[in-house]
Amino acid sequence: MKGIILAGGKATRLYPITKSISKQLLPIYDKPMIYYPLSVLMLAGIKDILVISTPEALGSFKALLGDGKDFGVKISYAIQPKPGGIGQAFVIGEEFIAGQKVCLILGDNLFYGDRLSAALQKASRKKEGATIFGYPVNNPKEYGVIGLDSKNKVISIEEKPKKPKSKWAVTGLYFYDKNIVKIAKSVKPSKRGEVEITDINKVYLRQKKLDVQFLGRGCAWLDTGTYESLIEASIFIKTIQERQGLKIGCIEEVAYRMGFISKKQLEKLAQGFKTEYGLYLKKVANGDG
Ligand code: G1P
Repeated sequence: MKGIILAGGKATRLYPITKSISKQLLPIYDKPMIYYPLSVLMLAGIKDILVISTPEALGSFKALLGDGKDFGVKISYAIQPKPGGIGQAFVIGEEFIAGQKVCLILGDNLFYGDRLSAALQKASRKKEGATIFGYPVNNPKEYGVIGLDSKNKVISIEEKPKKPKSKWAVTGLYFYDKNIVKIAKSVKPSKRGEVEITDINKVYLRQKKLDVQFLGRGCAWLDTGTYESLIEASIFIKTIQERQGLKIGCIEEVAYRMGFISKKQLEKLAQGFKTEYGLYLKKVANGDG
């Protein structure tokens, strides 16, 4: 299975912070934002990953992540010249996907929870159809929203509805079967000229091939589109990490625990940081993390 991180866009809601730097490179406490979605793909067991970003930002992502060898994965890069919608990622990534199944995650989405790994692995094992993840939010109007019938069966998905049918938002994490490129190409761009991910999900729903996994209490899904949500995410990560002495979204640790890199490789990576981050990696390598 292939993985795509979509880290495009202008993030004008965060100006002036994002005038000259990509939002997905901003810090969430002690790591760049993209570490969090990257660690989610790695936890799903995905090792072949495409990062899609703007022509201006791509070089910075390359400088940060390189070819991925340090973390035992393979990272390639592609450009989204203009914001053309989340669904455009599959058209841009057609060659990379090469007819396989693919998981897409948005570069600004943070997930946390001990049920997460199992949920990811279940979705990645599925041979046919799509899996999306629902999460209850206070402000569903700002997201794709899942409509349910009285038996909790999914009957609709609407993009940013004025009157949301539920409080279940569609998160920015999607698993698709090998038909995804064909479907993404068949979907007409919306009024705002974008290939909407919600329209793609509606195709799978109509074909009765859409699974929704509900991440409820005990899981955190945060996004980082505003000044407030940015600092809230940092505080959340800091609070949990300090309480547990365990890091969230630490790609070097995930690589080691998933068996993508050896203890020796992790020790070597640890030496590259003269910070608490490096000490933490050393502890993980020694088995007391
Ligand atoms: C996009 C999707 C929306 C989804 C959200 C998750 O919205 O269109 O369906 O709920 O990501 O982060 P956007 O962030 O592009 O407004």
